[in-house]
Amino acid sequence: MPRYRIATIPGDGIGMEVVPEGIRVLEAVGRRFDIEFQWDHFDWSCAHYRTHGEMMPDDGLARIRHHDAIFLGAVGFPGVPDHVSLWGLLIPIRRQFRQYIALRPVRLLRGMTSPLAGRTAKDIDFYVVRENNEGEYSEVGGRLFRGTEREMAMQEAVFTRTGTDAVMRYAFELARKRPRKHVTSATKSNGIVHTMPFWDERFASVKQAYPDVSADQYHIDILAAHFVMNPDRFDVVVASNLFGDILSDLGPAVAGSLGIAPGANINPEREFPSMFEPVHGSAPDIAGQGIANPIGQIWSGAMMLEHLGHADAAKAVVDAIETVLGDPASCTRDLGGTASTRECGAAIAIAAAA
Ligand code: NAI
Ligand code: MG
Repeated sequence: MPRYRIATIPGDGIGMEVVPEGIRVLEAVGRRFDIEFQWDHFDWSCAHYRTHGEMMPDDGLARIRHHDAIFLGAVGFPGVPDHVSLWGLLIPIRRQFRQYIALRPVRLLRGMTSPLAGRTAKDIDFYVVRENNEGEYSEVGGRLFRGTEREMAMQEAVFTRTGTDAVMRYAFELARKRPRKHVTSATKSNGIVHTMPFWDERFASVKQAYPDVSADQYHIDILAAHFVMNPDRFDVVVASNLFGDILSDLGPAVAGSLGIAPGANINPEREFPSMFEPVHGSAPDIAGQGIANPIGQIWSGAMMLEHLGHADAAKAVVDAIETVLGDPASCTRDLGGTASTRECGAAIAIAAAA
């Protein structure tokens, strides 16, 4: 029986409430498909920061380096500035473990209603593939003359050929496995005149190797508009770190709810563990009340199963989510239901085990 060591980092706020539900469902589906998990818990978080002055210990990364995957809740809480929590935990994991792909499915599940009028499940089914290690989120830059009239700030975007080609190849490989086999590139080469023409050149070059996959590109502004007006146009969308960050919140929003959206930070070479986490954050406004929607976390667990090579078990989890979405008594109140976090998780676990 395959056995996986998973590093779990519930993090802050509702992360601590939804991660146990993710584990509950994975345990249930694991019993059905003969997959075993060992869950090693790490309390790295803003609470950890307040007691120890750091989000995780110095040897934190070494302690999870050899796990098969990382299952993360959410990080960030009022009282610790977001750039401290983000750069103290999430970004080091994403960068040092070379998780240069951030993958987000955008799918209107059965039982969900899109805020876009008249759209059904067949209209919204695509992936956003975001470059997760470089681009606009760089540490290159600085500030001068602070507090004076001449004050200035500068931040450089960094696009390497290796990094750009790798994310694009990942997008084409993914599209190749899907029925529509189409990749859309997010650009802005009319406004950003160095890095984005480079991005376009690399896209033109990489697509040569995939004659079986069709390709197009849009400037990011109109692309965002098309997510709303014509979501059925998309199959796989590849984007830089910043553009991808925005699209990967907009996408799940048009698919119904941020509370159910999953995400993966992937090291495709598998030299390091990949990390699976919902799109939403720690939701301080509802934390501690037992009402958070656990579906984003549970669906992230399905992505982890798929990454570990268990596509059938992953599908069973997504099917179970769709079953439960049809029953308001098992859904949390953000979806108009009446269930608690735990009741929703338990219902999905039962459906996944069947
Ligand atoms: P958020 O996603 O935590 O909350 C936004 C809104 O959505 C809130 O009204 C919240 O109640 C609701 N919501 C989110 N998840 C939900 C769920 N599962 N069920 C029901 N309602 C849900 O975003 P916000 O407020 O911008 O950020 C809060 C904290 O989380 C910040 O410290 C931020 O930095 C952090 N954050 C962390 C992320 C991560 O760990 N990857 C991602 C996004 C935010
Ligand atoms: Mg984001």
